[in-house]
Amino acid sequence: MKVEVFETPQDAAKSLAQEVAALIRSRAAEGKNVVLGLATGATPLPFYAELVRMHKEEGLSFANVISFNLDEYSGLDRAHPESYWYFMHQNLFNHIDMKPENINLPSGMVAQEEIPAHCAAYEQKIKDCGGIDLQILGIGRTGHIGFNEPGSDDTTITRQVHLDDLTRSDAAPAFNGIENVPTTAITMGVATIMGAREVALMAWGEKKAAIVKEAIEGPVCIEVAASYLQNHNNAKFLLDKAAAADL
Ligand code: F6R
Repeated sequence: MKVEVFETPQDAAKSLAQEVAALIRSRAAEGKNVVLGLATGATPLPFYAELVRMHKEEGLSFANVISFNLDEYSGLDRAHPESYWYFMHQNLFNHIDMKPENINLPSGMVAQEEIPAHCAAYEQKIKDCGGIDLQILGIGRTGHIGFNEPGSDDTTITRQVHLDDLTRSDAAPAFNGIENVPTTAITMGVATIMGAREVALMAWGEKKAAIVKEAIEGPVCIEVAASYLQNHNNAKFLLDKAAAADL
C-alpha cells in the first residue's frame, strides 16, 4: 500500500483532484465514462472544493462521470441537511456538470422489507457500469470505511448496518445530540470497496493518527475494516502530517 504524506489537507486534496481530473480527461478523449466511488464527511471537503474550482476555472467537465456513493443514513430523506444526498449536492453535484442520471447513492428511505433488494440492485448497477475505477474514502475512528464498522469482513457487500457508538458520538454535534443520530445506515461492503480498481483514502488531523497507524501497520483484521486495504493491489493513503504522526 502506498502512503503519501502532505504538509496540509489542501495539498493532498489538490494532488488527488489532479489525478482524478487526468483520469476523467483521458477517458473523455477515448469517448468513455469513468466510474467514481465517492465519500462524504469532513475529510473530502477540500477535495470536492478543488474539483469544483477545476470545473469553474479550468473547464473540467464531469459529463462522462458516473458516481456511486458509499453510504446513506437510514431514515433521512434527500432534503434532510445531514443526509448524504444533500451533502453531495451542496458540496459537489450542484456546482459541476454531472448528469443527474449518473448520480447514485443508496436511499435511506426504502421500506425495511425492501432494503435487501435495494442493496442488491445497487451492487448490480455498479457491475453494470463496469465496476468502480477509483474509490475515494475517508476513515472513521472505529477504522470504518464506508460504514463498515468493526465486525465487517472482506466478504461484505452493500447492506444495512448498525452504527458503532463512537461513530454516532462523532456525528452527534452535526445532529444536535446523539439521540438524533440514526442508528442504522446502508453502506457498500468491504468487498464492494475492494472491487474498485484503485482506492484513495484521505485522513487529516491528530484524531485520526492512531487508527491510521492500525490500518496501515496493524494486522489485517475484522476489527479494522480499513486494514483490508493492505490486501488491495492499488490502494493509497493520502495523509497530512498530523494523521501520519504515529507511523
Ligand atoms: C462517509 C463515510 C465514512 C467517513 C468517515 C470519516 O461517506 O463513509 O467512512 O469517511 O466516517 O468521516 P470524517 O471525514 O467526517 O472524519
